[in-house]
Amino acid sequence: MKKILDLISEEMMNAFEAAGYDRELGRVTVSNRPDLCEYQCNGAMAGAKQYKKAPIMIANDVAAKLTDSAVFQTAQAVAPGFLNLVLTDAFVGDYIRGMRAEEKYGVEETDRPQEIVIDYGGPNIAKPLHVGHLRSAIIGESVKRIERYIGHHVTGDVHLGDWGQPMGLVMNELKARSPELVYFDESYTGEYPAEPPFTVAELEEIYPFASKCSKEDEQYKADAMACTYKLQSGVRGYRALWQHIIAVSVVDLRRIYDNMGVTFDLWNGESSVRDLIPGMVEEMKAGGHAYISDGALVVDVKEETDTKEMPPCMLLKSDGASSYATTDLATIKMRMEQNHPDALIYLTDKRQELYFQQVFRCARKTGLIKPETKLVHIPFGTMNGKDGKPFKTRDGGVMRLENLIREVYDEMLRKITETRGAENEEARQTAETVAYAALKYGDLSNQASKDYIFDIDRFTSSEGDTGPYILYTIARIKSILAKYVQDGGDLQAVYSCIPAPSTEGEKQLMMALAKYNACIEAAAQEYAPHKICAYIYELANALNHFYHETKILAEENAEKKAGWIALLLLTRDVLETAIDLLGFSAPERM
Ligand code: ARG
Repeated sequence: MKKILDLISEEMMNAFEAAGYDRELGRVTVSNRPDLCEYQCNGAMAGAKQYKKAPIMIANDVAAKLTDSAVFQTAQAVAPGFLNLVLTDAFVGDYIRGMRAEEKYGVEETDRPQEIVIDYGGPNIAKPLHVGHLRSAIIGESVKRIERYIGHHVTGDVHLGDWGQPMGLVMNELKARSPELVYFDESYTGEYPAEPPFTVAELEEIYPFASKCSKEDEQYKADAMACTYKLQSGVRGYRALWQHIIAVSVVDLRRIYDNMGVTFDLWNGESSVRDLIPGMVEEMKAGGHAYISDGALVVDVKEETDTKEMPPCMLLKSDGASSYATTDLATIKMRMEQNHPDALIYLTDKRQELYFQQVFRCARKTGLIKPETKLVHIPFGTMNGKDGKPFKTRDGGVMRLENLIREVYDEMLRKITETRGAENEEARQTAETVAYAALKYGDLSNQASKDYIFDIDRFTSSEGDTGPYILYTIARIKSILAKYVQDGGDLQAVYSCIPAPSTEGEKQLMMALAKYNACIEAAAQEYAPHKICAYIYELANALNHFYHETKILAEENAEKKAGWIALLLLTRDVLETAIDLLGFSAPERM
């Protein structure tokens, strides 16, 4: 379905042409003076020079061609040469009926579906998720859903950090605590136990402990590195123990991500590409791209037009160990072979911006990808506390993601119980649903690259630009619909009976709805969930305005009432679809 703005522009362009002017001048925009008009066209001003005429004369000529337009109720030329536009009720009503008839409310799926791999989440085995992992999961999940919605084939990969030094630290500490474990007996040739020798709680305690020890004790650090080496070089017992660490950790990670509504198609990790690294490095050497510099193997990625420093991409450190970049490059190689992607998308903190530039250039230069393969890094800003500094716990530590979620949940439950008077199972379930919406909307409503402040009072408020406000609006619609049914109304029967708007509030609501396909298209093209947040906020405001000025259920004219109910149904469907693209859902009631 065409975008409403395009239809309006077409009508205006035809008028410019009919009046003897260049059609291109007829582009229309949303009014920046909503008190005066709904849309506007500034083409007459732009054309003044070309036609050596006062803009108002052009505007008058064009307006004269629109006197019986089916699109514009009024097209008024005003000094110095604007065209102020108000749409006809019939045009708006027709457009909304058209939206209702389409499965995706006027959004057209792409005619060139792409194969996309999106790398997000990025948790590290044996380390608890912390607030730093929140944004990657939330934004990545939403981008995945949006791209899928417009018809791309998207594979989400969690890209576990499962192969580096933290593994050695955990194993070294396990060895110190239980040296008798069979995994450390290098002469052992039998089967290893199926049960892990630790719980997830123990694992989580072990990692920070070991990490602290290695900072204080050189020998400890050396021993941990030796463990990493043994793991990476394939010592049986270490590999078996590592498998346990992964298995235990992944169960826990899945649980947390599942609760958050974040799901991955692939649970690959850095370790998945370990066998690809030597071959890839050899190819890069043979291709003349990789060379030794200060003992390390590097690839230059500087370009002539660079204005800032661009260090080379390091493949092997001087001790022969591969680096973070090597893993990412080998992962690109693997994805190219397995998924044949048209685009690879990464979500990380913006502090990794330069890093991804290096990796992308290296991948392109060394031919790991095809010339037409798109590599996209979506960098995000930091979640800060109210002091404007990266969010910390009260005692200044890194906040665990689960604790953060718990805090939002507790606050939501407190608010819900306060209004309902009692805490029960339904209140707890509602609080959980709303808490995720509060947290996710609080995050996604900001442009990803910007830092934002985690403000629990604001995020959980049912007023203003918040997740709970959107959910309250949906709940309000659902409650009206339920009453309509209780009074004997039939939702199926009224479903598509949307008439032309008869009140201002109704028209405003329809015009807000009508922007849906344009919003989704922009969000998909720019990987920008915040555009969907801005859209649903505007839509929710329009709905609430309409609700406050209209006595819907008390309306005596059954046909009129049915039309309003149909409009509410469409608004509910659009809002629920949009929040699903953001990765959260609405409870039946609040
Ligand atoms: N595990 C990394 C971290 O916690 C993030 C991984 C990001 N993804 C990537 N392909 N490098 O910082």
